[in-house]
Amino acid sequence: MSAGLFITFEGPEGAGKSTQVRALTAHLAALGVPHTLTREPGGTPFGTRVRDVLLDPTLQIDPLPEFLLYSASRAQLVTDVIRPALARGEVVICDRYFDSSLAYQGGGRGLSSELLRRITHEATGGLTPHLTFLLDLDPSVGLGRVAARGQPDRLERADLDFHTRVRARFLDLAAAEPARFEVLDATRPQEALSAHITARVDARLPARP
Ligand SMILES: Nc1ncnc2c1ncn2[C@@H]1O[C@H](COP(=O)(O)OP(=O)(O)OP(=O)(O)O)[C@@H](O)[C@H]1O
Ligand SMILES: [Mg+2]
Repeated sequence: MSAGLFITFEGPEGAGKSTQVRALTAHLAALGVPHTLTREPGGTPFGTRVRDVLLDPTLQIDPLPEFLLYSASRAQLVTDVIRPALARGEVVICDRYFDSSLAYQGGGRGLSSELLRRITHEATGGLTPHLTFLLDLDPSVGLGRVAARGQPDRLERADLDFHTRVRARFLDLAAAEPARFEVLDATRPQEALSAHITARVDARLPARP
């Protein structure tokens, strides 16, 4: 697997992305499979600063500059973290990637898909995940889960209609690329989801001695 394996987790707020990323990372670590874990926005010192801006609930940010900030973080992450890890032959696990922009800034904010895809292609050099797990969940359930965490961030404060459009766009994206996406019912128990995910990933790992 000299080209590595690039896996992303997508879905609305509170769907369980980070929970499943942690479970998969632990599984790969137990198997001794070299892997890199990262997230969006963030994952680099620059991206972490951008993340703070994007999630700041005191800021009003228009859709285009919001998308450009996500793309800026993404471009740095691809260059500094994801491509080098893939070149080393590692499994790269990313908690959100460009599908989140297509869903949030496209479905949610209403930016055109053509614009989003053009800039995304520039930012990533066309780097597309091999496998994307979409944790699908009714947004009211997901927002209820994250409400328990305390102060909502800027995105969590958006209205339910926004999050409903985001969910719908994620499902459209998955339907358009069934070979890349796997849609999972995020109301299932965490352990059932992680068992399913690890089995899928194991099937994509190279044979081991
Ligand atoms: N399958 C599940 N069933 C019920 N609760 C879950 C499940 N998976 C995760 N949770 C809980 O839901 C909450 C949100 O989980 P998590 O942080 O993994 O979601 P997320 O998709 O990463 O959220 P965010 O979009 O805010 O990053 C946590 O309290 C977690 O314990
Ligand atoms: Mg998370």
